[in-house]
Amino acid sequence: MVAETLGWLEPRRGGLFVDATLGLGGHAEALLESSPDVRLVGIDRDPEALERAGRRLERFGPRVRLVHANFHDFATALAGLGVPDEGGIAGVLADLGVSSLQLETAGRGFSFRLDGPLDMRMGMSDVTAADLVNETSEGELERIIREYGEEWQARRIARAIARARTDKPIETTAELQRIIAQAKGPRAAREERIDPATRVFQALRIEVNQELAGLERFIQEAVDLLETGGRLVVISYHSLEDRIVKNSLRDLARGEIDQVTGRSHAESQLIDVLTRKPQRPTEAEVEVNPRSRSARLRAARKLPEAGRR
Ligand SMILES: C[S@@+](CC[C@H](N)C(=O)[O-])C[C@H]1O[C@@H](n2cnc3c(N)ncnc32)[C@H](O)[C@@H]1O
Repeated sequence: MVAETLGWLEPRRGGLFVDATLGLGGHAEALLESSPDVRLVGIDRDPEALERAGRRLERFGPRVRLVHANFHDFATALAGLGVPDEGGIAGVLADLGVSSLQLETAGRGFSFRLDGPLDMRMGMSDVTAADLVNETSEGELERIIREYGEEWQARRIARAIARARTDKPIETTAELQRIIAQAKGPRAAREERIDPATRVFQALRIEVNQELAGLERFIQEAVDLLETGGRLVVISYHSLEDRIVKNSLRDLARGEIDQVTGRSHAESQLIDVLTRKPQRPTEAEVEVNPRSRSARLRAARKLPEAGRR
């Protein structure tokens, strides 16, 4: 959703933009091309993504700085670069989830479509999906699969995993996919429009990378560092993530509530939410890039201090 993102971020204003999920640098490149006055900090937790994006963005020279960090520590990562001492940030983008590079590299173990080791680490965390699947208690596995995969057959799948690993450790994406498919039975494969393993893989990925844990804090820190009129755009790919984004933006837009009158305190309203409903990709985009199907974009603008209603 590059065009939509640029529409909300308005990079033609120039200034410092932070892409908190640099990935392969597609959004970052479009931002830098929008105006010679755009400077960019790109963050990613995946060193391989940073290296690739670094090559792609080389031609922009000193306008670009890249940081290997988790955006859950957004303010700390930027403080290391002296940001925001040089002024506020004009725009922050987070395009959550995995990149196509991660998804399409069998060795990273994100996809059941490619057989590979059960890894799923985006970057710096030490626990792999194989560690989780082989060492977590059956009850905890059930919770992860139910909560993060919204999978109603979580108990049955956790039991099947626990049984299978007593023979030998589960090591590959294909092995896990087979165990899940058997546990859910042939009816699930016929009735669900997605592969029976989809939700379990999503759940393990979220747990391995602790994807939901720091999202609210990131949004708070990003809003704090925006200049007046600065923009925040977050693109999420599943409902759990989108719910956190929606609620965090709503709270920052509403400000603190007066316990007596029930009205919000004008001075604590930090942002305006610009997207009443999440923006979805066009049919044309989904056709070209089927992975964008589940994307939901939300945008907000920092309110002026004096004008906070
Ligand atoms: C969907 S891709 C971004 C694609 C990018 N917008 C582009 O145009 O190429 C998401 C990227 O965010 C990174 N990422 C996800 N969660 C992160 C986090 N908490 N901190 C830093 N990077 C993260 C992933 O490693 C991945 O490279």
